[in-house]
Amino acid sequence: MTSQALQKARKYEITAERTIVEEERPAFHLSPRAGWMNDPNGFCRYQGKYHLFYQYYPYEPKWGPMHWGHAVSEDLLHWEYLPAALAPDMPYDQGGCFSGSAIELPDGKLMLMYTGVRKEEQPDGTILDVQTQCLAVGDGIDFEKYAGNPVLTEEDLPAGSSRNDFRDPKIVVRKDGTYRSYIGNRPADGSGQVLCFQSADGFHWSFQSILDSNGNRLGKMWECPDFFGLDGKHVLLVSPQDMLPQGFEYHNGNGTVCLIGRFDEETETFIEESNQAVDYGIDFYASQTVQMSDGRRVMIGWMQNWDTCEFRAHHGKWQGQMSLPRELSIKNGRLYQAPLRELEAFRQNKAVYQNALITGDKVFPDICGRRLDLEVSVRPEEGEELYRKFSIHFARNEMYHTTVSFRPHEEVLKIDRKFSGSRRAIIHQRRSKVAGSSDGFIKLRLILDRCSVEVFVNDGEQVMTAVCFTDLDAEGIMFTADGAARIDVVKYDLIG
Ligand code: FRU
Repeated sequence: MTSQALQKARKYEITAERTIVEEERPAFHLSPRAGWMNDPNGFCRYQGKYHLFYQYYPYEPKWGPMHWGHAVSEDLLHWEYLPAALAPDMPYDQGGCFSGSAIELPDGKLMLMYTGVRKEEQPDGTILDVQTQCLAVGDGIDFEKYAGNPVLTEEDLPAGSSRNDFRDPKIVVRKDGTYRSYIGNRPADGSGQVLCFQSADGFHWSFQSILDSNGNRLGKMWECPDFFGLDGKHVLLVSPQDMLPQGFEYHNGNGTVCLIGRFDEETETFIEESNQAVDYGIDFYASQTVQMSDGRRVMIGWMQNWDTCEFRAHHGKWQGQMSLPRELSIKNGRLYQAPLRELEAFRQNKAVYQNALITGDKVFPDICGRRLDLEVSVRPEEGEELYRKFSIHFARNEMYHTTVSFRPHEEVLKIDRKFSGSRRAIIHQRRSKVAGSSDGFIKLRLILDRCSVEVFVNDGEQVMTAVCFTDLDAEGIMFTADGAARIDVVKYDLIG
């Protein structure tokens, strides 16, 4: 039975969608059908298609009582909207249907596990969120909330764990057919931990183990965990709140962390070996992964950040985008990300310049646009002193530009969108250390999709992501060197 709240959302999103013209949206990144989008949810493969749900408030382009939006795709790049999947319509989720995940049950039904938020008045009159885990089962379009909800509450928590920060279940099925759910939580030390719960049938759950504890090292509360095996290692992705900066690796505020290590099957605990940022740019958070039919592990993140949401599109019709699907791998103990290879089918109008000498400013007549795949290999000019700085300016006209610049002497790559049209005093720059680049060699691949850029550095060893709502007629691209740099450039328009 579809509740009134869900019917209202489904009706509203159909009319609101019609008011948004295609050119006001990214072309191959998913944006909300209407209103607001944050985290990817329930990213899964079901009946031969990829389903992506998302944190959704259809009525306004800002965060509100959370629904689940829904889209489906065959290739992870062309998305078709489906009706909103969940609305906050039960006593246990009236404060919102927060993030969660999806899994196919043995009977062929699709099950969603999400966090239900209930507002609870305290004796002193203040209101606190109480978070529990809930289920909804359906056919891939309509979902019935489980009569036994909530299936995990404060009673299932180990001692000292907060019932107010207990969210974002990532459910997995194991080889033996039993289920695990990895859930973010705040323990007694006030930071974060990932709890593991087990179930034989997907409906009855109990506490299994503490998968990993933050211990106040990497921010505070850990949101949106994901946990999977990759290239002989195990990877735990978390999105911490309240980070402190650590060199150029982590920055203040909401961050993304990839922990690489081993999984102890006996104790069901994770043994960390190393950690790194997932994304070194400005706008990336709350990622989720799916395994493709050919085994590839693909990650999508919310291409925005809680600290920078005030950079808004001026049309004001929608807010929030998903990142590109990124293929994950581990090389030399680091997480690598590559744009989903199917994107290459979008490539048209190739333009190539090899061995071009850049001294000062340079534009190439056929290199411009806002839906681009731009590969640039940079090296020093032989016999010359190492250049001091090399920059690519894009989304550019007389008034605006956004810049990616590289300083080999410092091994620092910077993204700067100060001049992208933002009128808000928020973070517009971010720097990242590119280890081993002091010889002046660097490879950059920029993917532009109207209102965002994703910079893949040295074949995906690092990624820097930022949104930029610059007027779409600012489509110039300019290369600049302080000193002399040689570059090879390959540009394609991305037309899907
Ligand atoms: C992360 C997050 C989640 C929560 C959701 C609410 O961005 O804060 O922890 O489930 O957003 O919309």
